[in-house]
Amino acid sequence: MANIIVIGMQWGDEGKGKIVDLLTEFAHVVVRFQGGNNAGHTVVVGQQKVILHLIPSGALYPQKKCVIGNGVVVDPQVLLAEIDELQKRGYFKDDDQLLISEDAHLIMPYHRRMDVARERMKGEGKIGTTGRGIGPAYEDKVARDGIRVGDLCNPKIFRKKLEATLAFKNPCLETCLQDKGFNLETIFQEYNGYGERLKKYVTDISVFINNRIKEGQHILLEGAQGTHLDVDHGTYPFVTSSNTVAGGACTGAGIGPTKITEVIGVSKAYTTRVGEGPFPTELKDEVGERMRERGREFGATTGRPRRCGWLDIPLLRDAIRLNGLTGIALTKMDVLSEFETLKICTSYRHRDERCQEVPSSIEVLQECVPAYEEIPGWKGEMRNARDFKDLPPQAQDYVRRIEELTATEVILVSVGERREETILRRNPFERGPCLS
Ligand code: GDP
Ligand code: IMO
Ligand code: MG
Repeated sequence: MANIIVIGMQWGDEGKGKIVDLLTEFAHVVVRFQGGNNAGHTVVVGQQKVILHLIPSGALYPQKKCVIGNGVVVDPQVLLAEIDELQKRGYFKDDDQLLISEDAHLIMPYHRRMDVARERMKGEGKIGTTGRGIGPAYEDKVARDGIRVGDLCNPKIFRKKLEATLAFKNPCLETCLQDKGFNLETIFQEYNGYGERLKKYVTDISVFINNRIKEGQHILLEGAQGTHLDVDHGTYPFVTSSNTVAGGACTGAGIGPTKITEVIGVSKAYTTRVGEGPFPTELKDEVGERMRERGREFGATTGRPRRCGWLDIPLLRDAIRLNGLTGIALTKMDVLSEFETLKICTSYRHRDERCQEVPSSIEVLQECVPAYEEIPGWKGEMRNARDFKDLPPQAQDYVRRIEELTATEVILVSVGERREETILRRNPFERGPCLS
């Protein structure tokens, strides 16, 4: 049995899409378990670059099942556009490849409008959301006012729920948020059409996944966002609205924790963040600008420039603890080549105190000053490295230092965006010791 969770260790965009695509070769089923189309997961295979927002990053392998779990919030319009796009590019020919949980909640047009209107009203204090309606959709789920994918497939139930919801949402939009309301008939017609198209994919995914586990198949659970965007454990309120940590994989996919064999955390060799919120190692100078240029750090979903900074070990230590990580996949090592010296933040200083962990209060975190150690950089093209020993000695030292500081093995080093631009030191689907 090998059922593996892959999650982000930082603030998202760590390269989860690349790692999940790579590991899909060894899995039978790939599952998205939380988040929605706030995610943008990039997969580069051959000449093809695909950005996935809702469909798991295993989509490029025709024989692998892709599951959208109950923990995901689904915008049916976006999902259908993504299916169409994949099919146009020659993927997803077989309808059986995709399964969608009947219990997943829908993102409706009023959620998107509320998300944008609320950010507008917050002004300076905005979170910097993706504007995709994620927060409002999860709010309705928890308030027990949500509409689920299963409801969408039953026009009578869908109409009744939509009517009740709009009776509440429209005054809220018009009065509190000074925006426009929605017409019942228009949404019903449009969304009923989406339900018609999606119903062939809709099923009880918990039963499906657990049956596959019983048959001895391997499951790969794909996280979205990152540990420090988790609604409980992240830099609240500058977070997303779901549990992005590994614990969320079980609730969001309907499987028990005893079925999980490994949890792999993905981290960039440096740090980035999109949207607002504290970021202790952020570089607002030409070094940060160089990282953004070399790493092409622009959001895969919104195109916003990503804030860049040095690697932050307290963030990674927190992620290791919160997720029970068994290994790290370190991405974008190639981006760091050509820097004279590199800095690693090993702890923070808050006034006279030294912090090894990320403080819970963002007011305290905002006042934290990173303590750095300096490491010599390296030069040259790294994309052809396939073995750890192919890396420049300073790059090997950089990886080893991360292992020492985190007391966790780096099982994979990524040196380019393509599938093959990877050094796989230990395959989590074949448990065993670190090779080098
Ligand atoms: P995700 O949201 O975690 O899947 O990450 P994104 O796809 O939003 O952002 C990661 C970006 O880095 C994408 O453009 C990837 O193609 C790219 N990428 C992933 N790994 C590497 C790597 O090792 N080197 C370089 N240069 N790019 C990478
Ligand atoms: P992937 O899966 C990076 C950020 C937004 C904002 C905050 C809340 O590609 O790593 P939301 O729309 O979720 O309410 O926004 O979370 N955010 C992400 N940042 N990568 C993501 O996903 C993100 N999804 C949300 O920028 O700061
Ligand atoms: Mg992304």
